[in-house]
Amino acid sequence: MRIGMLTGGGDCPGLNAVIRAVVRKGILHYGDEFVGFMEGWRGVLDDATMPLNMETTSGILHKGGTILRSSRTNVKKIPNGFETCLQVIASHKLDALIALGGDDTQSISLALSERGVKCIGVPKTIDNDLSGTDACFGFDTAVTIATEAIDRLHSTAEAHNRVLVCEVMGRDAGWIAITSGIAGGADVILVPEVPIDIEEVCRLLRYRYDHGKKFAIVVAAEGAKFPEREQASQGAAVDAFGHVRLSGIGQQLAEEIEKRTGFETRSVNLGHTQRGGTPSAYDRMLATRYGVRAIDLAHEGRFGRLVVLKGTHISDIPLSEAIAKTRTVDQDLLDVMTSLEPPRR
Ligand code: F6P
Repeated sequence: MRIGMLTGGGDCPGLNAVIRAVVRKGILHYGDEFVGFMEGWRGVLDDATMPLNMETTSGILHKGGTILRSSRTNVKKIPNGFETCLQVIASHKLDALIALGGDDTQSISLALSERGVKCIGVPKTIDNDLSGTDACFGFDTAVTIATEAIDRLHSTAEAHNRVLVCEVMGRDAGWIAITSGIAGGADVILVPEVPIDIEEVCRLLRYRYDHGKKFAIVVAAEGAKFPEREQASQGAAVDAFGHVRLSGIGQQLAEEIEKRTGFETRSVNLGHTQRGGTPSAYDRMLATRYGVRAIDLAHEGRFGRLVVLKGTHISDIPLSEAIAKTRTVDQDLLDVMTSLEPPRR
C-alpha cells in the first residue's frame, strides 16, 4: 500500500514513536511505501512532503516533537480546501491516510472520509480529553513534568511562607491538573469541570495555615474559571479552530488568594514545558501500540476509524464517536481529591 501520514494540532511527546511504529511495521511486514505530509493538514494543502522510510524514522523513538512538524491548519476554513486535499491525495496515489491528532485534526479526517478518503486516526492530545479512548500518549509525560514541578515548588513555597499557584494545561478537562495535583500533594486542585469557589479555596488554605503549615500549593488547569468570569486568556484572538489562547488563571487566583487571606502568593505557568522533551516509557509504549494497530487497520481495510485504548487493550472506534464530545475528569478522581481535603462544614 501507499500510505500518507501527518501530525496535526498541538504536539506532544510520543508522536515520533507512533510514526516509527507505523513505518517499521508497514515496511517490514507489509512492504508499504509512505509519504509524510509536513505540518498537519497544511502539508496536504501545499503538497509539502518528506520521505518516511527506515532511515528517516530511525533514532526518533525517544525524541519529543514530531519529525513531520505540526500546525493547527483548518481545511474547512481554506477556500476549496477539501478539493485541494483530494487532488493532492490522488496525485500521490495513496491507499490510506493516517492522521495523528486530537478532535480538531480528526474532524478533518472524518470530513475527508465522507469524501471517500481512506482515513485512520490516532488519538493525540496532551489534555487527554478525547472521548472513546482511556488515554492519549503524551499525557503521562506531561503529568510527570507537572508533578516534578509541584515537588520543586514545595521547597521554595516553604522557604518563603508562600502560597504557590501552579497553572497547568487542560482547556476543557482537568486531567493534568488533578493527576499531577494528587500525585504532587497539592493542597487545592482546580479543574474546568468545577467552577472555582474562591471562598472554599481560601478556607482550605486557612485550614492548612491554622494547622501549622505556613505554605501551600494550588494547582489549576488553564481552563478553570471563576463562575462570573470568562476563561482567562491572552486576548480575544482565536486559532483556526476557534479556540482562544488560554493563560492567566494562575495569576488571577494568586491575586484573589492574597487579597482575601493576606498570605503572600505567587503564580507560575508551566505552559509548553509540559509538551516538550522526551516521552516517558509509558508514552513510548502506548504510542508504539497505537502505531502498530493503525497500520494493521489499514491492511484490514477498516477505514474511518480511530485507534483507542480500552482498559489495557488497544481497540478502535468510528472517527465520529471520537469527536462527539470531550472526555472530562471522572467523578471518582474528584472524590479522591476531596477525600484528602478537610471536610466541608
Ligand atoms: O490542545 C492542547 C493544548 O496544549 C491546550 O492544553 C492548550 O490550551 C493549547 O493546546 C495550546 O496551544 P498552542 O500550542 O497552539 O499555544
